[in-house]
Amino acid sequence: MIINAYAKINLTIDITGVMPNGFHSLRSIMAPISLCDELTLEKSNELTFKCSVKALENQENICVRAAKAFFNKANIKSGASIYLKKEIPFPAGLGGGSADAAAVLKGLNELYGFPLAVEDLFLLAAELGSDVPLCLLQRTALCEGRGELLTPISNLPVMNIVIAIGSARLSTPEAFKQYDLLNPPVKNDTDRFLSASKNGIESLAAACGNAFEVVTDVLCPETVTIRNEMFRLGALTSHLSGSGPSVYGIFATEAEASNAACELKKKGFSAYACKTLN
Ligand code: C5P
Repeated sequence: MIINAYAKINLTIDITGVMPNGFHSLRSIMAPISLCDELTLEKSNELTFKCSVKALENQENICVRAAKAFFNKANIKSGASIYLKKEIPFPAGLGGGSADAAAVLKGLNELYGFPLAVEDLFLLAAELGSDVPLCLLQRTALCEGRGELLTPISNLPVMNIVIAIGSARLSTPEAFKQYDLLNPPVKNDTDRFLSASKNGIESLAAACGNAFEVVTDVLCPETVTIRNEMFRLGALTSHLSGSGPSVYGIFATEAEASNAACELKKKGFSAYACKTLN
């Protein structure tokens, strides 16, 4: 079985506090996008994992953890051979690992004849990581709690997206740590986005935002350069995705998006034109 694992972007992300378990409470609009990894899953007696990126080919990979969690919960004494063809940049704030984990859960459940109910898959997803439930849902949603409490949002337009990333990298825990040190006032982009959700693409774009930009504007100035380039190339808006350092731009047309991706590549960035999956 071949299954695509779709990345996500955060159209908004507001950090509203710190929970007793140390995780941050969020309000975020997350949208799956067509940029994806590809997983090949086959039934097997043993659990084996191979990856096109050798640095990711180890037993701690979230694909292996997802498969183990699935077999354990489904009480299946068997395995699977898993091959991951990596396309989504990492770590990038695009939920690449979360997407892979969600695809493994969904794919194995199908391969083994649906032993687990959808609710069980969502519980396993939330244990694997904060963004895994959204990747399993594969719809744009308001994400609350630490990101795992989902309210799907209907009737949003399909958006033309460009993703770009330079050479700088910043881990999610480090971004949260730096955010806590700065302790800025809470933004309310998410509420503004929800109020604009019945309006056109311009109003939606104007409501996008990312609380981590106060951190990355200083620690990853390259993200500011990319955002400025996106605007120069005609983006309606451009923001960091997740805790970065990837940046997305929203474009009015597919032609403008593919032109922007070409121009960003010429400047030495990795860039991808894609669309939101509603
Ligand atoms: O859940 P996930 O594996 O994506 O989280 C990675 C790390 O990011 C956590 O260990 C935590 O340090 C931080 N995090 C957080 N609050 C969230 C999500 C993630 O502090 N809501």
